[in-house]
Amino acid sequence: MNMNSNSAVFMIFGATGDLARRKLFPAFYSLYREGKLTDHFAVIGLARRPRTNDQFRSDVLESIREFARHEVQGDADWNRFVEHFEYMSLDSTQVAGFHELRKLADRLDEKFHVGGNRLFYLALAPELFGQVTTHIREGGLLESKGWNRLVIEKPFGYDLASAEKLNRQIREVFEENEIYRIDHYLGKEMVQNIGVVRFANALFEPLWNNRHIANVQITLSETVGVEDRGGYYDHSGALRDMGQNHMLQMIAMMAMEPPSRTNPEDLRDEKVKVLRSLRAYRTPEEVRSHVVRGQYTEGEMKGTLQKAYRAEDSVNPNSTTETYFAAKVYVDNFRWAGVPFYIRTGKRLPVKTTEVVVEFKNVPDNVYLANDHRLEPNLLVFRINPMEGIYMKINAKKPGAEGVIIPVAMDFCQSCQVGLNTPEAYERLLHDAVRGDSTYFTRWDEVASAWSFIDRIAEAWSQSSDDLHPYPAGSWGPEAARELLARDGFRWWPVNGQHEGEVIWVEGETK
Ligand code: BG6
Repeated sequence: MNMNSNSAVFMIFGATGDLARRKLFPAFYSLYREGKLTDHFAVIGLARRPRTNDQFRSDVLESIREFARHEVQGDADWNRFVEHFEYMSLDSTQVAGFHELRKLADRLDEKFHVGGNRLFYLALAPELFGQVTTHIREGGLLESKGWNRLVIEKPFGYDLASAEKLNRQIREVFEENEIYRIDHYLGKEMVQNIGVVRFANALFEPLWNNRHIANVQITLSETVGVEDRGGYYDHSGALRDMGQNHMLQMIAMMAMEPPSRTNPEDLRDEKVKVLRSLRAYRTPEEVRSHVVRGQYTEGEMKGTLQKAYRAEDSVNPNSTTETYFAAKVYVDNFRWAGVPFYIRTGKRLPVKTTEVVVEFKNVPDNVYLANDHRLEPNLLVFRINPMEGIYMKINAKKPGAEGVIIPVAMDFCQSCQVGLNTPEAYERLLHDAVRGDSTYFTRWDEVASAWSFIDRIAEAWSQSSDDLHPYPAGSWGPEAARELLARDGFRWWPVNGQHEGEVIWVEGETK
């Protein structure tokens, strides 16, 4: 028997879907190429549609050619990798197929000396989670001598009540410590780096509180529309699709206390404390004054006319679903009292980027420099995606000019480093799941706290949609989002150094 805990039979439910093709197969290949997955593994692709092993393997090859970080090497190498992949057509509504699946898993386990470990990856619609997990148990798939783990994708529910129901269903079969809930943002290199930069630097750690920080801004802007996911998205909207998970998780990473140890539960304990400290909006009026929602209309992006959200496939032509939202959020604890966290996300915005900006408070006004000049605040910016790096904006003397102060950027561009092929979030998370490290997966109490916060907003929105602001595709979203900060005397800092056509700062340059 192979005792390597990195070995497993991976059962991918939804193996013909987009996630498997774009993320999972390429992740397996990278892990394999980098020696993080030994030869003791097997992948069983599962979906309803019939497919031969050969067809499945050529789908896997195509997906890796298109999306993987590593080029496929010669035939011999490829064949050695792909022989670990098999396909089985499965009707997940019937338990019979799960008995067959068990036989196949046992056979592959023996063939590759896996040692009984099983990882069930549900890349499926959540409505199926309950039934599939029950069938996994009834099909005898949990009766092996190794560990069993369940990896599930978002959305984890539609609100707190449905999330609780879903959780009850899967908890009937799996223990909490066997459940790995994916939030792929937590797998991103720079999101994980937030904690390191915060806690490992004497330059930042002492300043990380309401005495020195004026506000924090988190932007997740996307240029894409809803693509072929109109059916899902129209039911979900930006608040549930991005807010409940990625954005609140990033607030938690920015705001949490340093974990006292490095066990997975320590970090998750700290994150959940932040989520529980989010100030709940008490009335629909409070929601209105703290949260702005928008929906894209027709507009031009890079010379191409993009259609309105309501004209997208599978979207209700009268839809009031938000494709944008911005919110002012407070973390009510000693460290953060009074510091607004501004968050915004939207589809069809001008730039694809994820950035977190920490705006520091200004130096006292009576300092002689501040009297004579309008000093810009210091900024610390985490560039999460697609550019990875950190930059700081500080004030300095303009070279050659008498008494002129300008903001200059100290820029560390991680993704510019030659030869650095940063692992994809899914690679990292798949690797963590197989190693049994749940640090960067969301625990149930985090999910529940996040929903409690989000539900208040969703509930207020469900009462009336007259605060839904249209914004043209290619713009930075509704004007009301600008006002949200302007009321507090702040403004959104430019992402990638650009904002509403105005270039304020570009790579390596200051103005
Ligand atoms: C997903 C959302 O969770 O995140 C998508 O469902 C969104 O709507 C995507 O496009 C963004 O992820 P990334 O990694 O491209 O920023």
